[in-house]
Formats: sequence, C-alpha cells, structure tokens
Amino acid sequence: MRIPVIAGNWKMYKTIAEAVDFIEKIKPVAAKADHCEVVVAPPFTALAAAAHAAKGSKVAVAAQDLHSDKEGAHTGDVSPVMLRDAGCTHVIIGHSERRHDHAETDEQVNRKLKAALAAGLTPIVCVGEMLEERESGRTEEVLRTQFEGGFAGLTPSDFSRIMIAYEPVWAIGTGRTATPEMAAESHRVLRELARKKFGEKEASAVRILYGGSVKPENVGGLMAQEEIDGALVGGASLKVDSFTALVNYPRA
Ligand code: 13P
Repeated sequence: MRIPVIAGNWKMYKTIAEAVDFIEKIKPVAAKADHCEVVVAPPFTALAAAAHAAKGSKVAVAAQDLHSDKEGAHTGDVSPVMLRDAGCTHVIIGHSERRHDHAETDEQVNRKLKAALAAGLTPIVCVGEMLEERESGRTEEVLRTQFEGGFAGLTPSDFSRIMIAYEPVWAIGTGRTATPEMAAESHRVLRELARKKFGEKEASAVRILYGGSVKPENVGGLMAQEEIDGALVGGASLKVDSFTALVNYPRA
C-alpha cells in the first residue's frame, strides 16, 4: 500500500509571515486528511519559521534544494545539516528549474541525493522530459538516463527512502497537464527501471508523484490512476483554498 503524498512546491514565493500563516491554516486540513501525507516546500528564508509552525502537526516541511557538502566555502548554498537544523524532513532534488536555471546535472543530483540520505532527509527526486524530447519519441530514454545517473550507487535500502516526482518540463507552469494516462505511462517506465535496478519490493513501494499544472480540477483524474501516488504542485499550492482542495482530492 503506497500512501499518497500531496506536496506543494512554493518555489520563489512567500515571505516568512505568509508561510507561517499558510501553515497555521493548513494544519487542521492536514490533521483530517488520513488518506495522504502533506508536504510543503517554502523558500529557504521561511524554512525555520515554517518548520516551527508545523511542529507536531501532519504537515511536513521540505527544502527546494541543498548542497551536497556538510559545510564549506560555497557562497549562497545551504547544507543538509542546515536543513535539518531548520526543521526540514524532506528535500526536493533535481527540479527542472534547478536543472535549467543552474545547469544541474544527474551527477550533481546523485551527490545531493546521497548527502540528503546521509543527513536523514527524505529526498523527492524530480525527473522529466522536455517538449522536444517527448515530440521526438525520446521520453523513455530521457527518464532512463536521469534515473540511472540520479540513482547511481544507491542500495535498495537507500532507494526505499526516496520519493520520485515525474514532472514533464512542458507541463510545468504552462497550464498544459499531462493526461492521466500519459503520466501513468511514464510512471510505469520509472517503476520498471526501479524494479530492474533495486528489486520488486522496492519498486512496488516507491511513491511516484506527478507534477506539472496539477490543479483542483484535474487532481482527481490523475490520482485515480493506480500508478500515480501523489502530486507535486507549484502554482495551485500557493493559496490555502486550492491546496486544501488538492489535499482533499476526489476519492472513490
Ligand atoms: P506547476 O504546478 O505550477 O505547474 O509547477 C509544478 C512544479 O514544478 C512542482 O514542482
């Protein structure tokens, strides 16, 4: 049984006060949501205050990135130890906006992933193809490359502590969602890669979230897919009402 996860990636939005206010409002919603786990990923500046506000509740706090070293001369970066210190339990790694804005490679994703695991954080590792890759029939190949590179050198036990987010780049912030069938097909590819690399038990247990223009209007159809174990949501996670509707997605 894979417990679904509804995660909000706030990207570069919200002040400290706005983040705390949001968490206070979403705590009672999460408390009633026995059917899923709830995660929010505020910007770095709001992490400590958000984690403090969320303490003892069902809302887990994630960072949006991390550096792979514990400490060092890395201006502007934040270490896994610092994230733990701020109260984070989860961290998003390899988001397409990091891959594109900061030229992050699968090799860096892999280093960050190992550092996050070593620090006891739950990584949410993002993969996904660009539009031209999908249109040229290369989706599966891209997912395989990102999977092999990102998850290199991990043991099945490491892998069992990870969540994957399939986020097709062409669907992020565009309003153009993958159809539930399209998303499920990519999730099947990822689960099969997991089966080959880590084994049956790990593959059937790993949670694969879909991300890319998820909204209250389409979350039900996506979550109805057996292969889709949750959603990683950008824009529609920023307002309490719409995040509440996402957490309480329609269920059969
Ligand atoms: P949108 O939901 O705004 O498309 O963003 C998706 C995303 O990038 C989540 O990480």
